Amino acid sequence: MARAVLALLWLRWALSCAAPPNVVLLLMDDMGWGDLGAFGEPSKETPNLDQMASEGMLFLDFYTASPLCSPSYTPQDIVGGIQDSEILLPELLKKAGYTNKIIGKWHLGHRPQFHPLKHGFDEWFGSPNCHFGPYDNRAHPNIPVYRDWEMIGRYYEDFKIDLKTGEANLTQIYLQEALDFISKQQASQQPFFLYWAIDATHAPVYASKHFLGTSQRGLYGDAVREIDDSIGKILKHLQKLGISENTFVFFTSDNGAALISAPKQGGSNGRFLCGKQTTFEGGMREPAIAWWPGHIPAGGSLRAKYNSLGQAEENMRPKPTVLFSVSKLNNVLKVSRQLGSVMDLFTTSLSLVGLQPPSDRQIDGIDLLPAILQGKLIDRPIFYYRGNEMMAVRVGLYKAHYWTWSNSWEEYSKGIDFCPGQNVSGVTTHSQEEHSTLPLLFHLGRDPGEKYPLSFASDEYQGVMRRISVVVQQHKDTMVPGVPQLNVCDKAVMVSC
Ligand SMILES: *[C@@H]1O[C@H](CO)[C@@H](O)[C@H](O)[C@H]1NC(C)=O
Ligand SMILES: *[C@@H]1O[C@H](CO)[C@@H](O)[C@H](O)[C@H]1NC(C)=O
Repeated sequence: MARAVLALLWLRWALSCAAPPNVVLLLMDDMGWGDLGAFGEPSKETPNLDQMASEGMLFLDFYTASPLCSPSYTPQDIVGGIQDSEILLPELLKKAGYTNKIIGKWHLGHRPQFHPLKHGFDEWFGSPNCHFGPYDNRAHPNIPVYRDWEMIGRYYEDFKIDLKTGEANLTQIYLQEALDFISKQQASQQPFFLYWAIDATHAPVYASKHFLGTSQRGLYGDAVREIDDSIGKILKHLQKLGISENTFVFFTSDNGAALISAPKQGGSNGRFLCGKQTTFEGGMREPAIAWWPGHIPAGGSLRAKYNSLGQAEENMRPKPTVLFSVSKLNNVLKVSRQLGSVMDLFTTSLSLVGLQPPSDRQIDGIDLLPAILQGKLIDRPIFYYRGNEMMAVRVGLYKAHYWTWSNSWEEYSKGIDFCPGQNVSGVTTHSQEEHSTLPLLFHLGRDPGEKYPLSFASDEYQGVMRRISVVVQQHKDTMVPGVPQLNVCDKAVMVSC
């Protein structure tokens, strides 16, 4: 009898271990690197995210693929969208038996052929665009909100956003959707992929009544506090249902904080230069946390070793150190210095499920699981694009700018400043400056704010640029430019979502 029970237990264990993990991607909108307590935000108002970081792994060198979320101006102007030829993560996960839900912003086209349910998602609650508005109801209808195929209302009309007080219940609604979906999937024992792409931190920022006026940082901080609270509830829900050890959660943001809206309607990029829309660190470096209880090994920060050319070296020593105290906790954080990209979440999620990325095309992302689970450091460059132009590249701790541009003099003269208070002569330029023959080189370890370009004549510059040139040449040789699918035009680099 005891044997049979043991055998059963073993079988259950074996089965549960073999079950592919659920995947939850929490994507923030315009949240900056400096917005979380765990990343050094001084008012420490993100206890749940800080706790998530202390239980998981913090990435300090994680990047977005583009310094703005989607080239759009007003929703009616976009005619393009995601093409059927693109293979999306939920399409592949669906084949592996996953149920996929997107909650929040889709932003890959609003026409019927671009609908998320045509691109691998089984369920949708949210909108094809940001909560811009309110618009004139006749000429310019407000942005629609969908449940699956059905349009169930519109922002401002049916889903209220009070621009005077900043009150809206949307984050609470998106939270409830997430909790319900997770419960339903757990009850039916189906693996799931949840993409929670909420937008309370995108101007006009909002929070529900309970959170309004609670932050030391104003309305933007209220929105962050509500998101933090919601993420805490999502993680606790996974724990309560007993599926946290079988659910991989990743938190990040779509681009840096929108400094044109800060401080009331925008966040902080910490020590980094400029913000959203630029390819300086403030535009592209993102807060990032991986969470997977029972899988991410405990203790120690992972220290990268770089050689003199800025290449990451494999032999790192996990070393328990308290890097900074986190809110009320004083936990040891696991910090990875792996250079990561949001594009890696595609490959990493497939790897979690045991799937290979499609072989008929070049995939830019890498599998981050060796970095997350074994503390490995994979040497790889990061490319900074603005539109079709490779503006900069990071190799190890070095970053070379091939082009510099903040925004046009015309915009700047109207008071639109992507780098408020941060004029770095010859770097935060208002004309598009090419430096391809002599790129501006920064050492991000010594100078994370990109203020002091290395001397062109130095041995350091010469040695590092020799290596970076090879990386850039390889990249350009193998680059297959995509055809723009959203109507990319100059509007893309102006005030947009
Ligand atoms: C938010 O929900 C509460 C409770 O249902 C309601 O009283 C309030 O009017 C809602 N606020 C908005 C802006 O919709
Ligand atoms: C930035 O500083 C440089 C040098 O001090 C100056 O020439 C330039 O006009 C400044 N740019 C702006 C936008 O203030």
